[in-house]
Amino acid sequence: MKNIVSIKQFQDTELLEELFAQAAALKAMDPADYPKPLANKVIATLFYEPSTRTRMSFEAAITRMGGGLVSTENAGQFSSAAKGETLQDTIRTLNGYVDGIVLRHPMLGAAQIAADYSDVPIVNAGDGAGEHPTQALLDLFTIKEAKGQLDGLKIGLVGDLLNGRTIHSLIHLLKMYKADIYCIAPDELQLPKSYQQELAASHDKFHLLSSWDEVLPELDVLYITRIQKERFEDLKTYNRVKDSFVFDGEALKKLNKKAIIMHPLPRVNEITPEVDNDRRALYFEQARNGLFVRMALVAYLCNQE
Ligand code: NCD
Repeated sequence: MKNIVSIKQFQDTELLEELFAQAAALKAMDPADYPKPLANKVIATLFYEPSTRTRMSFEAAITRMGGGLVSTENAGQFSSAAKGETLQDTIRTLNGYVDGIVLRHPMLGAAQIAADYSDVPIVNAGDGAGEHPTQALLDLFTIKEAKGQLDGLKIGLVGDLLNGRTIHSLIHLLKMYKADIYCIAPDELQLPKSYQQELAASHDKFHLLSSWDEVLPELDVLYITRIQKERFEDLKTYNRVKDSFVFDGEALKKLNKKAIIMHPLPRVNEITPEVDNDRRALYFEQARNGLFVRMALVAYLCNQE
């Protein structure tokens, strides 16, 4: 695997287990002892959309693994894209400078286009409403770390399942396990039909819901997502659905005592701060796990060359 463009490149659990074992080992290690497989390598983080966790954790991961960085956030404004340069030309140019490119772009399919024009590895850090494969890896790592295994778990995915790229990538990984999947969203933000068909084909335990009331006491994993304002064509629709699911102290009382609460972050209103100190709230630990999973991933990609 040279590039990580889509989570569909992970066809079975073997490589996942290997990466997760590496990530867990790195998490347990003294940072002074981290291996440096990226020594003498330089990686570009090329972000055309806002990011905190994905870019910072990739940059921290690359630095901690001994690599150097060149970086542009808001590349649409601060790179030559502002002058009209195509993504293809930017990628070709960076190929002369760096050994790998982590790319976030608002256009669905951008990572594949970049990969088609690149000799150095491309890692998709989010392509519009398409995919976010490395987020799915850290999400699955977090579930496994907390729960041990996935078979038999009841997993609720909540919020903007239509536009949420973290959901699209995570769904593919969840399909590999025998978990019950509950897609909980306002009707207009339900999981895209293509994903529903894929899930229905492999999963008899797959449910579409428009309320979480009945399932909160049952769920083992509650994965809440932000309504993706930037993907809406009109703000009227956004305003109508934006507060469809707000997880607060009241909802917390109804949630299964053994459940874990996840969110890829950033949250807007979906989880009120009073939930943060509950031991079931794992979203900041989930974000921290991003560092270790991305360290394991960049080391793996480095070994492929
Ligand atoms: C997500 C994204 O960018 O898709 N954020 C992240 O990478 N952790 C989720 C979101 O923006 O809602």
